[in-house]
Parts: sequence; structure tokens; C-alpha cells
Amino acid sequence: MTHGTVMPVEAPATLAWSEKAKAEVADALSRYPVKRSAVLPVLWIAQREWGWLPPAALKLVAEAVGLPEAEVFGIATFYTMFNMKPVGRHHLQVCMTLSCSLMGSDRLFKHLEKKLGISHGETTPDGRFTLRRVECLAACGAAPCMQVGFDFHENLDEKQTDALLETLR
Ligand code: FES
Repeated sequence: MTHGTVMPVEAPATLAWSEKAKAEVADALSRYPVKRSAVLPVLWIAQREWGWLPPAALKLVAEAVGLPEAEVFGIATFYTMFNMKPVGRHHLQVCMTLSCSLMGSDRLFKHLEKKLGISHGETTPDGRFTLRRVECLAACGAAPCMQVGFDFHENLDEKQTDALLETLR
């Protein structure tokens, strides 16, 4: 699939926390006996600030929690919910694990690839949609499912997915 594109990655050289984020980071740090334990909530705060985690954001997180940048990078890249490159306005995450796969998520994913002209990890040229395969979203009883941003859409078929895309355009 080659019609899509990966959004240009313009990683900022430096970043600074907003005042709101600074307060949230301080609050997150105060909840744990050691700073390093707050790495996941602080990564979340960073991702909410910038929409993804460029190296400058990982640096800030590393400084905040007192871990080496390489370790923070390792943690961030372990979890699929952290975006290591910019994502579109609507982040479509299709579950490809067993229950969803048995219930047609492979077919659904191919349908989305064709419909949007992009493949895994790519973003439409207009920046509206990013498509990704992800592991179990913990909604196996409602397979196949897809997470869009923070919303879950369950028991999907191609027709419902098309209708959903229309509401997101
Ligand atoms: S297998 Fe898809 S939500 Fe669990």
C-alpha cells in the first residue's frame, strides 16, 4: 500500500513543559516513593502535551523522573500506546489479537487500508487518519474492535466502520 504517507516528522530540538503540565508532573512524582516509578504517568503527560514523544520530550521525561534517556526511550517504545512519531487527528488502532482476528479484524484492517490508502503506521496526506495494528485492547468479548483516540468501537464490520469514518471526517 503506497498511496498514503508517513507524516513529516519535524522533531523539535527543545521543548518545555507548560505550566499546567509542570503541575501535573509534580503531582505524579508526589504519588510514588521514588521518582522513576512515575515514568509512565509522566510519559502520558508528555504525549498529551505534544501529541507524540519526540526525543526532546523523552529528554524532559528523563530529567523529571531521574532516569537515563535511553531507559525512557526503551519504556516508551515497549508500549504501543505511546506515539513515537506524529499521528493524525484520528488515530485508528485495530486490535489484531486472537479474538478480534478470529472475528475478522484482518479483513477489517485490509478494508481500512484500501479505503484510506494507507497502511500500518501511516497517516493520510490530509493528516486526518493514522492507522495502526495493536495488540489486545481488552474488549475481546466485543470483537472485532478498534480504538479511535480514547473511544472504543466494538463488534465492527466494514459497513459500520465506513459509517464511523464518515462521522470522523
Ligand atoms: S483480542 Fe481484541 S480486544 Fe482482546
